[in-house]
Amino acid sequence: MYRTHTCGELRMSHVGQEVTLSGWVQASRDFGALTFVDLRDRYGITQLVFNQEDNADLSAQARELGREFVIMAKGMVRERSNKNPNRATGDIEIEVKELQVLNASKVPPFTIEDETDGGDDLRMKYRYLDLRRTPVQNNLLFRSQLAIETRKYLAGQHFVEVETPVLIKSTPEGARDFVVPSRMNPGQFYALPQSPQTFKQILMVAGMDRYFQIVKCFRDEDLRADRQPEFTQIDCEMAFVTREDILQTFEGLTKYLFKTVLNIELPTFPRMSYDEAMQRYGSDKPDLRFGMEFVELNDLAQNKGFSVFDSAELVVGICTEGTAEYSRKQIDELTDYVKRPQIGAKGLVYVKYEIDGSVKSSVDKFYSPDDLKSWLERAGAKPGDMLLILAGEEEKTRKQLNELRLEMGRRLGLMKQGDFKPLWVVDFPLLEWDEDTQRFYAMHHPFTSPKPDDIVKMQSDDRLVLKGLRADAYDLVLNGVEIGGGSIRIHDRDLQMKNFSLLGFTQEQAEYQFGFLMGAFEYGAPPHGGIAFGFDRLCAVMNGQSSIRDFIAFPKNNQGRDMMIDAPSEIAKEQLNELFLSSNPPKK
Ligand code: AMO
Repeated sequence: MYRTHTCGELRMSHVGQEVTLSGWVQASRDFGALTFVDLRDRYGITQLVFNQEDNADLSAQARELGREFVIMAKGMVRERSNKNPNRATGDIEIEVKELQVLNASKVPPFTIEDETDGGDDLRMKYRYLDLRRTPVQNNLLFRSQLAIETRKYLAGQHFVEVETPVLIKSTPEGARDFVVPSRMNPGQFYALPQSPQTFKQILMVAGMDRYFQIVKCFRDEDLRADRQPEFTQIDCEMAFVTREDILQTFEGLTKYLFKTVLNIELPTFPRMSYDEAMQRYGSDKPDLRFGMEFVELNDLAQNKGFSVFDSAELVVGICTEGTAEYSRKQIDELTDYVKRPQIGAKGLVYVKYEIDGSVKSSVDKFYSPDDLKSWLERAGAKPGDMLLILAGEEEKTRKQLNELRLEMGRRLGLMKQGDFKPLWVVDFPLLEWDEDTQRFYAMHHPFTSPKPDDIVKMQSDDRLVLKGLRADAYDLVLNGVEIGGGSIRIHDRDLQMKNFSLLGFTQEQAEYQFGFLMGAFEYGAPPHGGIAFGFDRLCAVMNGQSSIRDFIAFPKNNQGRDMMIDAPSEIAKEQLNELFLSSNPPKK
C-alpha cells in the first residue's frame, strides 16, 4: 500500500496514529540531529521528521533526498512543537520509521513553488513540472469544478449532452480553418470545427430540444492572452425559445456557477444595446467596474477657431477623477499611449479642473475659461478632476477613447479584484461592411436571424439600410471580457439564402457549403437559438486573471506551438506521399 492518507489530510486528531504517505519532496532542511522533509501531493504538504539519534541510517537516507524525489514514508503522527499556522497540516508532523525512494528526480529546471523563477517557455516545455505548482494545479481543479457544475445545472434544465464530429467540412467564413488531409479521399480535406454551430442547429431540427456540449473548438487566428488556437466552449442550443428565454437560462447558469463555485451572488444582469455601448464606452464589451462614460463635446467645442476640433467628426472626452495633479510627464505618457500605432490617435487634449476651481488646459489659447468650464460641467467634473479629449473620425475616435478609458481604469486601480460586473450586450448589427474587400461580413455568423422588424429591410440594395439591420444577437460581457455570444437563428430556407446572398455568396457557393443545413430547414426546422461561452475565458475572469493559458492543462505558446511535445512538426516523406501532399514546403 502506497498511502493511508494524503499529504493534506492529517490533523491533531490523528496524533498517535501510524500512517503511510507518498508524494514529492518539496524541500528538505538538515539540522544535524534532525532532518525535516516537506512532502507534497495534490492535497497539501506534510512535514516529515527524521531523528539522527533514533535511527542514524534513516537520517542519512533522508539527507540524500533531492527535490522532487518521489518517496513513501511510514511513521507516527505527532504534535509539532513549532506549529505552522499557514499550513492546513501545520499542527502535526510525521516521525518517520521507514522510508522508500519510489523514484529519483533530476534537479528541476525551475523552482516548484507558488512563485517560480521559470520563464514562460521553460515552464511550457516542462509543463508537467509547472503543473505541480499549487497555483496552476488550483486553476485546473477550478476548471474541473466549473465543468462539473455546468453539467449539473444544464442537466437540471433538461439539456442533453451530445458529441458532434471533429472532422468536418471547411467553411471560409469566420476565422481560418485548421485542415486535415484525407488519405482515403485524395486531394480532399476535412476541417476542424471553429464551433459546432451547424451541428447544434441540425440537432434542433432533429428534435433534441435542448443541447449542450463542453467542446474543443479550433481557430487558426493570431494569438493573444485571451485567445488560443484550440479552446473550449460551453456550447448550447434550444428550440422553441425567444431571446428572453435564452438570456434567462444563461444568466441563470452564470449566477449558479458564481454562487456554487465562488459563493458570490450576482445581481440581475443589466442589458445594453450595441449602439448604446458604443456611444457610452466606445466598445461592445465595456468594463462596468468603473464609470468614465464618454462625454460628447461637438456643440461646445467646435467653431471657436481650434481647427483640430472644427474638422473632426466627433469631439469626445472622459472625466478622470482626481487626476488634475498629473504632471507634464504623466500627461505626455498618456499622449504617447494614445499615439501608439495600435491605437493611432493624433493627439490628446486635457482640461484640468484645479482644486482651487481654476481651469488649465492644453487648448486654453483657443477657449475661454468659461468655455472650458462648460465642458467640465457637462462631464460632471469636480475640482481635482481632469477631462481627457480625443477628436477625429467618429468610429475610430470612439475606439481610441475606449483604449484610453481602459488605460486610465488600470492606472487608477479601478478594475478591482473580486468585483464582478456582468452585462448583456444586445441588438448587434447583422452585417459589417469591409472597405478592403468591398463586401459585407456577418457580424456574428451567417446563421443569425435579423430582428423580426428588420427582415423586410433585407430586400433593400441600399448599403446604409443594410448597415442599419439589427440582429437578434447577444453577448455576455464580464468585466470587459466577451465571455459568450449567441443569437436566435434563421430557420427558414429562403431567409437563410437571402442572408447568404447579402454576404456575397452565389446560390451555388451557398449550396456547396451549407446545402446540408438548408436542406434540413426544408424538413420542419423549429424556431431555435443558442449561445456559446468561452470556457477558458470564464475560468480566467472568475479568477481575476486575463490570460487563459494557465487554465489550460497543455496550452500553445504565442507562435501556436506546444513546447512540450514540440508540435507542429514535420512529417515523414512517406506520410506525405500517402496523403498526396507535396513534400516541399513553400520557400519563406
Ligand atoms: P463566438 O465565435 O462568439 O460564437 O465564440 C463564443 C465564445 O468563445 C470564446 N472564444 C475564444 N476563447 C479562447 N480562444 C479563442 N480563440 C476564442 N474564440 C472565441 C469567446 C466567445 O464569446 N457558434 C457561436 C456561438 C453561437 O452562436 O451559439 C460561436 O462560436 O468567449
